[in-house]
Amino acid sequence: MQLRFPPMRSLVSALVAASMAVLAAGLFAGLLSAQDDSQPPSGWELSGDAARARPTYDKFCSTCHGAEGHGDGVMSKFLDPKPKDLTDTEYMDTRSDYQIYLAIKDGGAAVGLSDKMAPWKSLLADQEIRDLTLLVRKLGVGE
Ligand code: HEC
Repeated sequence: MQLRFPPMRSLVSALVAASMAVLAAGLFAGLLSAQDDSQPPSGWELSGDAARARPTYDKFCSTCHGAEGHGDGVMSKFLDPKPKDLTDTEYMDTRSDYQIYLAIKDGGAAVGLSDKMAPWKSLLADQEIRDLTLLVRKLGVGE
């Protein structure tokens, strides 16, 4: 059956127009959120367990950031820029929890840093990334 009835046809075009409006709004919201990575999307909350992240940190992060987070891991001498000193509280205080989470999840480039900080989301579960975010926060206060 062809679209013979004008009402049917206008229904279809109304649907097409509506879905395009939804797409455009989504795109616009995406652009807006990309502009300020320090602000989490509404409803985002950081919870987890920093201690649980320790083995993950030792395995995957310490090679660059160092066992205590000073940015002095064995790989650091080959890197430019150097891995961040995660214990530099003066600097780390300028970074929001969400930026730290995003840097780990989507990589440095997602928060305006070097892409030598890789995205970890394909290797680590979201909760593991949240736990790491909390651990990074603690490194700066000497834990
Ligand atoms: C290959 C080396 C390497 C590894 C492995 C690595 N990082 Fe990084 N990391 C970097 C570099 C390089 C930067 C960005 C430095 C810059 O752009 O100034 C960075 C940046 C960061 C930042 C951003 C800090 C800020 O400025 O907001 C965080 C947080 C971080 N890393 C945590 C981690 C965690 C957690 C892991 C383990 C899952 C990890 N990194 C693994 C090299 C590494």
